[in-house]
Amino acid sequence: MSTRRKKIYEGKGKILFEGPEPGTLIQYFKDDTTAFNSEKKAVLEGKGVINNRISEYFMTRLNTIGIQNHFIRRLNLREQLIRELEIIPLQVVVRNAAAGSLSNRFGLPEGQALPRSIIEFYLKDDKLSNPMVTEEHITAFNWANTQEIDDMMALSLRINDFMSGAFGAVGITLIDFKLEFGRLWENDFSRVVLADEISPDTCRLWESQTLEKMDKDRFRRDLGDVIENYTEVARRLGIMKEMPTVIQGGLH
Ligand code: TMP
Repeated sequence: MSTRRKKIYEGKGKILFEGPEPGTLIQYFKDDTTAFNSEKKAVLEGKGVINNRISEYFMTRLNTIGIQNHFIRRLNLREQLIRELEIIPLQVVVRNAAAGSLSNRFGLPEGQALPRSIIEFYLKDDKLSNPMVTEEHITAFNWANTQEIDDMMALSLRINDFMSGAFGAVGITLIDFKLEFGRLWENDFSRVVLADEISPDTCRLWESQTLEKMDKDRFRRDLGDVIENYTEVARRLGIMKEMPTVIQGGLH
């Protein structure tokens, strides 16, 4: 663990440290796992290592198809070098099928296909339990402007297409997922860039044949085998072939 470096921010699942040069940060993936706004907590050994690798995989591939993001390179098992952004305080959720809070809100069975992909915005504020917000709230309170909202929506749909394809090809259905964005400033202009992470913590992933959950719902709903399922997601994506031995050897 990087005790020499200055800690910039500690969240529930990740820590940000000062980076080696201005405009960069180091993102450290913890094993800490929370759900329902920290009501439920656990340390799942190895989770941070898996999420670091899965997020690296998607951020790198998204970059190659022209979707700019904060990822620069992975540094070690738990850390990646990222570009420092001005974080937009919103969570953008993309849904392809009903599940979770959407199913609860509208009484829809989980797994029911939606007529089209739906994008929702939530305010990133744990004290308020991340309330859902509309474009009216976002622009009135200046969390983002209309151009930025348009950019986030367009990027989210492109990311959805790419990720649905990547998961679909390995027999995993992308039910929904959450993204976060930030502003990358160049002189007086800023551009909306993908931030945070893409991992089984931030997606709902169902095994396409059996409909078994392979994501954080295993933890939220006490289904067991959380790490085994995260590892299987990584294995199917063709990454972390060495993971089982690494886990047995202990991860620190
Ligand atoms: P929801 O159905 O609970 O609203 O979640 C939608 C998606 O967003 C699901 O893939 C889980 C993800 N998510 C997060 O990554 N962080 C959060 O804090 C919440 C509430 C959901």
